[in-house]
Amino acid sequence: MATGNCPLAIFVVWYARNIVPLNCLRTLSKTAQFLTLQCGIIGSIIFAAHGCAPYVITSHQFLAMDFISSNAAALSPSLTLAVTNRAKEMKAKGEQVFGLAGGEPDKDTPENIKQAAIQALQDGATKYTPSAGLPALRQAIADKLKRDNHLTYTPEQICVCSGAKPAVYSALRATISPGDEVIIPSPYWVSYPSMVELCGGTPVYAQTKPENGWKITAEEFAEAMTPRTKMIILNTPHNPTGAVYSEEELRAIGEVAVEEDILILADEIYEHLIYGEAKHVSIASLSPELYNLTITINGFSKSYAMTGWRLGYSAAPDAIAKAIRLIQDHTASNATTFAQYGAIEALKGDQSFIGDLREEYDFRRQYVYDRLSQMPKVKIVEPMGAFYFFPDISAAGLDSLSFCERLLERYKVAAVPGVAFGNDQAIRISYCTSLDVLKEGLDRLEDFCRKL
Ligand SMILES: Cc1ncc(COP(=O)(O)O)c(C=O)c1O
Repeated sequence: MATGNCPLAIFVVWYARNIVPLNCLRTLSKTAQFLTLQCGIIGSIIFAAHGCAPYVITSHQFLAMDFISSNAAALSPSLTLAVTNRAKEMKAKGEQVFGLAGGEPDKDTPENIKQAAIQALQDGATKYTPSAGLPALRQAIADKLKRDNHLTYTPEQICVCSGAKPAVYSALRATISPGDEVIIPSPYWVSYPSMVELCGGTPVYAQTKPENGWKITAEEFAEAMTPRTKMIILNTPHNPTGAVYSEEELRAIGEVAVEEDILILADEIYEHLIYGEAKHVSIASLSPELYNLTITINGFSKSYAMTGWRLGYSAAPDAIAKAIRLIQDHTASNATTFAQYGAIEALKGDQSFIGDLREEYDFRRQYVYDRLSQMPKVKIVEPMGAFYFFPDISAAGLDSLSFCERLLERYKVAAVPGVAFGNDQAIRISYCTSLDVLKEGLDRLEDFCRKL
């Protein structure tokens, strides 16, 4: 059965997959390489003494383990996706699931935006664009930043990426070197720490407190700083807590950043989803010094219900913008061409969609706030932005993952464990779903909490 050039040598291993330590598998992988290369023996059967069910591993799988970089090997799977995937699996089996875990608007992209992209496709917009994006789109973004955020950027300072997520990543790639520390107020959006680590940087978590509305104070920022601190990530409105920083709070944080020369990555993707008296302020607009230290991130996913279009952007001081553009040159090339035409329409066309979305989400927010405020074993801070609540469930006596697993398996309600965001005492509930689903989901959550 052994053939020297068969690429898929099969090893039958009497080890259960989960009990074989990684270093043991590495040793087996090395042995497989040795047998393959030195002896020409491809099919090797390895029996382990433990008497577990047989598990078949191809030589490809064995050998691949050695090829994973240390950076990639250190990544952990996104727990937000783990829960939503499990909920999808249950739905696929025909089970009814009440989804309170979503991270995207439950609306379709406005028709005028879709039509602009369709028209662009029909007109042949199927080739590369400049890597930083279509000049007309970058000009539209510059105009938007001036109009909405009091920020003056030239189109050359703007880089359009395939989503705000890659915009954050290329901004980090452009600025973070191995050994640099990045302060991340915790709880945090799931992807920041992994992205920092992929750049060789070290995330430094600054715990925020519910009594401060889950916002880092200038003092906490200063305390988290070390000589290696290069950047702080500020996300307002905030995922997962819905916190919105006021101008005064941003000024105080900004003062510390300027004094210590710390970069600020300002993720403003939820800027338009803001409620009550809260106002969105872009930290880069507060002084020329802050402008020179800030990379502003924004995009189209949340405000225009364009998550699947994959479009976001960064706006940065010249030198950083140039570095971001170079990274995009050598990685993505450019965001999808015809989608960029849709984005031009999003920024220049009718903006009423945003107001309608905000109004509807505010209504739901107030409904969820009323319900959660009266729920046993649940403590909340009123969120003023985005579309999430981050209730403390520590009184339930379960860690956040067990809480969410039980809620999903027994009550068919999907929520995201807070541990995914760095806080194991809370869960994230999203209200970007219909009022009917919210009502039923919250009824079930209440029932669950009562019986715990
Ligand atoms: C805080 C924050 N930043 C960035 C993103 C990424 O947005 P995009 O879909 O544009 O990549 C998200 C998405 O959930 C987010 O919550």
